[in-house]
Amino acid sequence: MTSITHSKSWIQLKKHHDEFSNSHMRDLFNDDPDRFDKFNLRYDDLLYDFSKNIVNENTLNLLYDVAKEAHLSDWVNTLFSGEKINFTENRAALHIALRNRSNKPILVDGKDVMPEVNAVLEKMHLFSEAIRSGKITGFTGKKFKTIVNIGIGGSDLGPAMVCNALKSYGHPDITPIFVSNVDGSDISQALEKCDPETTLFIIASKTFTTQETMTNAFSAREWLLNKLSNEDAIRHHFVAISTNESAVKAFGISTDNMFEFWDWVGGRYSLWSAIGLSIAIYIGMDNFEDLLLGAHEIDNHFKDEPLEKNIPVTLAMIGIWYINFYNYNTLSVLPYDQGLSLLPSYLQQADMESNGKFIGRDGKKVCLHTGPIVWGEAGTNGQHAFYQLIHQGTDIIPTDFIMPIKSQYRIGHDGEKHHKILFSNFVAQSRALMLGKTEDNVRAELKDSEDNKTIKEMIPHKSFEGNRPSNSFLFKELNPKSLGRLLAIYEHKVFVQGIIWNINSFDQWGVEYGKQIASLVLPVLDQNKQTDSFDSSTDNLINYFNKNT
Ligand code: F6P
Repeated sequence: MTSITHSKSWIQLKKHHDEFSNSHMRDLFNDDPDRFDKFNLRYDDLLYDFSKNIVNENTLNLLYDVAKEAHLSDWVNTLFSGEKINFTENRAALHIALRNRSNKPILVDGKDVMPEVNAVLEKMHLFSEAIRSGKITGFTGKKFKTIVNIGIGGSDLGPAMVCNALKSYGHPDITPIFVSNVDGSDISQALEKCDPETTLFIIASKTFTTQETMTNAFSAREWLLNKLSNEDAIRHHFVAISTNESAVKAFGISTDNMFEFWDWVGGRYSLWSAIGLSIAIYIGMDNFEDLLLGAHEIDNHFKDEPLEKNIPVTLAMIGIWYINFYNYNTLSVLPYDQGLSLLPSYLQQADMESNGKFIGRDGKKVCLHTGPIVWGEAGTNGQHAFYQLIHQGTDIIPTDFIMPIKSQYRIGHDGEKHHKILFSNFVAQSRALMLGKTEDNVRAELKDSEDNKTIKEMIPHKSFEGNRPSNSFLFKELNPKSLGRLLAIYEHKVFVQGIIWNINSFDQWGVEYGKQIASLVLPVLDQNKQTDSFDSSTDNLINYFNKNT
């Protein structure tokens, strides 16, 4: 495929950018009282307001034209059809099948995957209910109270984020703990909170070879054996989620206690699969299925809605506008909900592992910027940390504000005070970023309290350029369904951007190289030898470690 940069719409968009990029959103809002009406989309109670972006109708139309010229609709069909869109690993990318609540057949290599998907969901259902009710107990007959999910990357971030987000749906007597880092302090601190008789370990790893996960799993196994002094305890306290049956058996977990998934589920898209077992146990299978349903609804929306009414497509194309035309290469995700505090990390993997690539599908170096740096923090905490740079820094950071209208909790004298304060901040930040504060505004503000000299000195410091773009998502409440919707919106956004850039969003070769080098370093540490086989920096760091260990 010729680069999208040579397409008619891209060239027109470039010209439009040259003419339009000096526009200020303050003027765009002043000139058009209906601006919000033109630039928002809804899905049920979810409101996506994209009016605080540096766009006009022409911009949007040209962006949709770019999507058309990139044959986005064909690619969406390819994704949903089960074709091997992840060609460097010869795999389909079928997370949509995991939440295909319509149950319509989806074929991979001519075989409908839905019966297997449903069978695993049923196994999860029976198991999670049995753990929740106490029908399945630990080795000594006690009910499970702690679920330790050992996994990393996609086998950790999704379940951890969802369990954190949906705490109010959690089983009152079950605590989920997530262990991911190979740093021994992670598993050690987790085990300090665990009673061996009431702890279930879920070893979550697609490959069942990931060094961090397997190291933590073996340490947990050893800990349990030391505490319960019986090999038989392992099969009562360990279950596995994996595609690698032989490795699971070799670890000592019987296939009865293994929850399967498939190579066509990418790690960062896997929370909808058996990787979500900790979620199902914690919030119950009905709620887990609502999460799937929310995502399925957005899958249908993404597949069926025209580009102009399509939330993931619009979000993605506005991202393209900033990354490729303004060179704004980061995205800050700012959820105004403490439960969503892990969402930025989750989306970091979803986006950066998918689109952090400089090689196109044609094997050639891409000629434009690809995936943005994604980061963020829950509001209002971020406001007291890094928002200064978002408001007045030299880099422009497009931001996504996300907030449920109702809190999962009622606290304070009328039960709503906290949430009203939270919302006032949510909306104030995007307005301040958009509007800025002119020198005249500052002068007027200071005129009664400061002398002229002070006012003159303070004006540059207290004025804000504004014109800093943001998207806002508002929805009724954070629940399994609304969360499923939100996550699927972002997944599809990432997919759309990958199509525009002509990259394969479903592989992740970039993470392999560091793993290879680590495997060469480890034997040198095990032998505690001095080395000169790397480079002088690496050699000296290793030697210093070995000398002082
Ligand atoms: O190394 C990166 C990665 O492969 C991620 O894509 C994945 O989510 C993570 O490691 C964990 O992999 P696994 O589930 O196979 O342990």
